[in-house]
Amino acid sequence: MIRSLLLEFCQWCNNSWFGHAIRDSRWLFPFVEIFHLIGLGILGGAVLILNLRLMRLAFKNDSTPELAAEVGPWMLGSLVVMFVSGFLLFSTEAVKMYGNWGFQLKMLFLLLALIYTFTIHRWVTRGDDGHRFGAGLRVAVALVSLLLWSGVGLGGRALGYITTSVGSVSMLLR
Ligand code: HEM
Repeated sequence: MIRSLLLEFCQWCNNSWFGHAIRDSRWLFPFVEIFHLIGLGILGGAVLILNLRLMRLAFKNDSTPELAAEVGPWMLGSLVVMFVSGFLLFSTEAVKMYGNWGFQLKMLFLLLALIYTFTIHRWVTRGDDGHRFGAGLRVAVALVSLLLWSGVGLGGRALGYITTSVGSVSMLLR
């Protein structure tokens, strides 16, 4: 049931006017990908700054809650850019991505990274007053965050190398 709904959604994206417009243009895809990469750089920077502070490896002059409040809007803004640009890139090859295990893995990591970032990670970074959490917990929370977001990035990078077989795409397009 969910698989067929997802497939219908991918077919709709594939056949949408914006999917066609980007797919048929020589410059629109790379243009949109520029935003995906800029968003990636800002998101990666925000995640790294906060986790280096949490592990007490850098940014020691600021308290973690202060730093979390400062990088928070950058993280949210870059996530919006990643979702909009990612969706547009996706719409050009949605059915191919449907059958692509690299994309499925990326989306799984993305879901886990988002849930983790806005629950456990947020609780620890906003509550880290210097005494409340031990070094072991802070380092573990930071490492899990870095691993999850690296998984999303690696999944994204791998997309160009993992091909969905023509047979399965033509079957999916029927
Ligand atoms: C928010 C976290 C995200 C991160 C960190 C991320 C990261 C990446 C990275 C590193 C690449 C490879 C870029 C390259 O080497 O050219 C990529 C490509 C891509 N991403 Fe994302 N992405 C994110 C969200 C999304 C979302 C939400 C979607 C779709 C709904 C998406 C769809 C794609 C597609 C289709 C490509 C392949 C572009 C190509 O064929 O070159 N991404 N992403």
